[in-house]
Amino acid sequence: GKMENITNVMEYEAIAREKLPKMVYDFYASGAEDQWTLHENRSAFSRILFRPRILIDVSNIDTTTTILGFEISMPIMVAPTAMQKMAHPEGELATARATSAAGTIMTLSLSGTCSVEEVASTGPGTRFFQLYVIEDRNVVRQLVRRAEKAGFKAIAVTVDRPRLGRREADIKNRFTLPSYLTIKNFEGLDLATIDRTNDSGFATYVGYQFDRSLNWKDLKWLQTITKLPILVKGVLTAEDASLAVQEGIAGIIVSNHGARQLDYVPATIMALEEVVKAVQGRVPVFLDGGVRRGTDVFKALALGASGVFIGRPVVFALAADGEAGVRKVLQMLHDEFELTMALSGCRSIKEITRAHVMTPWDNQR
Ligand code: FNR
Repeated sequence: GKMENITNVMEYEAIAREKLPKMVYDFYASGAEDQWTLHENRSAFSRILFRPRILIDVSNIDTTTTILGFEISMPIMVAPTAMQKMAHPEGELATARATSAAGTIMTLSLSGTCSVEEVASTGPGTRFFQLYVIEDRNVVRQLVRRAEKAGFKAIAVTVDRPRLGRREADIKNRFTLPSYLTIKNFEGLDLATIDRTNDSGFATYVGYQFDRSLNWKDLKWLQTITKLPILVKGVLTAEDASLAVQEGIAGIIVSNHGARQLDYVPATIMALEEVVKAVQGRVPVFLDGGVRRGTDVFKALALGASGVFIGRPVVFALAADGEAGVRKVLQMLHDEFELTMALSGCRSIKEITRAHVMTPWDNQR
């Protein structure tokens, strides 16, 4: 059948497009405004080339790595994406099971259609919780506590969304969460009344308000309400990377929110190295945005990332084939990455170095 013939991660997108209502597909696929950054997230990878080493015994390749003390099968993890039940009835639960089966880490979105408790009870696995700091800090406190209790191992706080980016397809489609779904993490919580004119309509259907005043002081506060490691998601500059390290955060995710926020920011793979240089190894640096191939994963690691996260590939595979689709996405990326390591002469993650790639900004040749 169709699903068995799939040979790369990108192929799921066309199937998802056929299957999903236009409003849902557009919500998952779109970037902000001109979508320049959306295209650039992919095309920047194609400007980075390999410098493979030969005649190295690559009969054994080890793709395992350790992230915040957790050993995982490969440096490829699942990014938080909102509202996965629009893609498939099992939504985040299917993603959680597939990610555990692949031996890696899932990040659950605060804006998920399954709660932290539901995801925890679907089976064992190492999971992170993605937090948006909303205006009602009591609710933030409760959410963090529930994530801790449910066994989540880290908080990824997303900082590139003080306001919602302009995704024109969503505006045209009058995107809204289908009425049979809810943002489960908020069920039963007493939310402060929101100003429904404030956030391009988003607040109207999710029922909570992102905090536009969010700043470095809030990050300090967040560290006082939890012992979990905090990753800052949405860093694109050396300046902010240095500040984040100074503030004592546990890790940085170089991300442009899948090109859904500010258009004309660089591709994350272009911003990665300046962040890595600023951080100087003090905390791990991760990347998401446009990762679709094992070669992309290798390039990110060669430029200093400790691991990558994938967003849309998971959602599209979920739409096309549920849990099996997500499993296959993770398997294909694993296999491509392992092959890339072998063909580059790298037997373990720590053997991947800067010298294994060349970039347009190198002046060595
Ligand atoms: C996202 N992203 C996101 N990020 C976040 O912190 N919280 C969220 O709820 C969501 N929701 C979300 C929905 C959809 C449909 C997409 C495509 C993205 C951003 C996500 O975590 C990640 O940064 C990007 O998806 C990575 O880029 P790729 O892999 O999609 O190219």
